[in-house]
Amino acid sequence: MSRGEGKVVCVTGASGYIGSWLVKLLLERGYIGKATVRDSSDPKKTDHLLALDGAKERLHLFKANLLEEGSFDAVIDGCERVFHTASPVIVSVTDP
Ligand SMILES: NC(=O)c1ccc[n+]([C@@H]2O[C@H](COP(=O)([O-])OP(=O)(O)OC[C@H]3O[C@@H](n4cnc5c(N)ncnc54)[C@H](OP(=O)(O)O)[C@@H]3O)[C@@H](O)[C@H]2O)c1
Repeated sequence: MSRGEGKVVCVTGASGYIGSWLVKLLLERGYIGKATVRDSSDPKKTDHLLALDGAKERLHLFKANLLEEGSFDAVIDGCERVFHTASPVIVSVTDP
């Protein structure tokens, strides 16, 4: 039995760099993932998540925005762990 079997965990900011890696690693370990994105209808934000091994069976996407009070409450409810990576990341570099 894998260590995550049957356990429900949430990853906020799942489309982001750290969030996407967390979703991948958690699915590999057998967890059931509740993943938040700001726009669940944007394939650029979700296709790479839905293509992960185990996503079809165990990944559930939810829409949530930090700027909307309470929008994470229902998603987080009942989760064993929450990985909160959703964050506005402001990059202002002229020559990266
Ligand atoms: N990457 C690193 O090396 C590193 C190192 C140390 C610490 N961190 C910290 O880890 C966190 C995540 O970093 P990251 O590199 O994964 O950043 P990222 O790729 O920019 O991901 C950030 C995520 O936050 C979401 N987000 C932004 N504003 C939001 C809002 N108002 N409501 C809900 N979601 C929102 C974005 O969603 P959308 O897809 O909808 O835009 C995106 O998926 C940040 O706090 C960063 O400072 C990162």
